Amino acid sequence: MNKLQDWPEPIVRVQSLSESCLNKIPERYIKPSTERPSFSSENNNIDHNVNIPIIDLTGLFQADQNVRAQIISQISMACREWGFFQILNHGVRPELMDQAREGWRQFFHAPMEVKQAYANSPKTYEGYGSRLGVEKGAILDWSDYYFLHYRPTNLKDFNKWPPYPPSIREVIDEYCKELVELCGRLMKILSLELGLREDHLQNAFGGENIGACLRVNFYPKCPQPDLTLGLSSHSDPGGLTMLLPDDQVPGLQVRKGDNWITVKPAKHAFIVNIGDQVQVLSNANYKSVEHRVIVNPNQERVSLAFFYNPKSDIPIEPVKELITTDKPALYPPMTFDEYRLFIRLRGPRGKSQVDSMKSPKCY
Ligand code: OGA
Ligand code: NI
Repeated sequence: MNKLQDWPEPIVRVQSLSESCLNKIPERYIKPSTERPSFSSENNNIDHNVNIPIIDLTGLFQADQNVRAQIISQISMACREWGFFQILNHGVRPELMDQAREGWRQFFHAPMEVKQAYANSPKTYEGYGSRLGVEKGAILDWSDYYFLHYRPTNLKDFNKWPPYPPSIREVIDEYCKELVELCGRLMKILSLELGLREDHLQNAFGGENIGACLRVNFYPKCPQPDLTLGLSSHSDPGGLTMLLPDDQVPGLQVRKGDNWITVKPAKHAFIVNIGDQVQVLSNANYKSVEHRVIVNPNQERVSLAFFYNPKSDIPIEPVKELITTDKPALYPPMTFDEYRLFIRLRGPRGKSQVDSMKSPKCY
């Protein structure tokens, strides 16, 4: 039996739960106490001013070698120490970013029948969804989402994209095109920073044949935000993620050691993070870091996560040049198709997958 044919139980839209004015969330959304967010200040000594690095890319793609070197060294630190950073002046028009996010907000506020017509199944995940894993009885996250493919071209299917608001398909198309270009440019910078030829990572991803998809998250208001999460802790399975967060409502938390840092989004910045496939290719020089989303009682939150992935059927393994006697290959080769089955069967589980792949001989 193929476990990925259908959901194990009827789907409940979190938005409908939220709108039905319950003052208690259903038990299915209550996390074990160790996973709940901590809102009290007494048990954490986090400095609330801490933020992930913010990097201005002005000049990065131009000739001045000094400016380039400075920006690259900031990116280097961010990829090695944080796995996360925000970028400013990245070349994507601010108006396009706002149009994309606000268009999606309108979609999530469309009548339920409009959205239900695009309900997804675990076969491809494309469409309107409310859970990730297919384990019966699993504890669920407080969010709905929409997932669609942009690349490879044969998977791009306008009929599976949302129909409303009327301009949304066009906006998504342009938005994704810009992000594919931006990711291509960043891949060159990361390759150079790792001491490789500038096209190395892109070639390892399959050259022109990369995958790209968009997951739009909708986190409805939640009456008991201290008991649940909008999205459980996970690392992104793909290559690079470009997140456009809500401009009004924080919610993303990034792990730093034993602490969770709440990201303070900069205006019109993208939040970039390293996914598991780049951790593997870089032989763990770059870190794919755990993150999660908290929800709140007064405000909904919309975010767009754009995933730039390797071609799904080529083996991904540590780049030869980054294997040394001190640091042998940490991971065996695996295709992205094989890799992403894990998260699709079991839902978000921290970093357990990429960590479990580590070759035992190295530890
Ligand atoms: C994701 C993700 C974060 C957010 O979709 O993988 O981590 O802020 N989203 O919604
Ligand atoms: Ni993520």
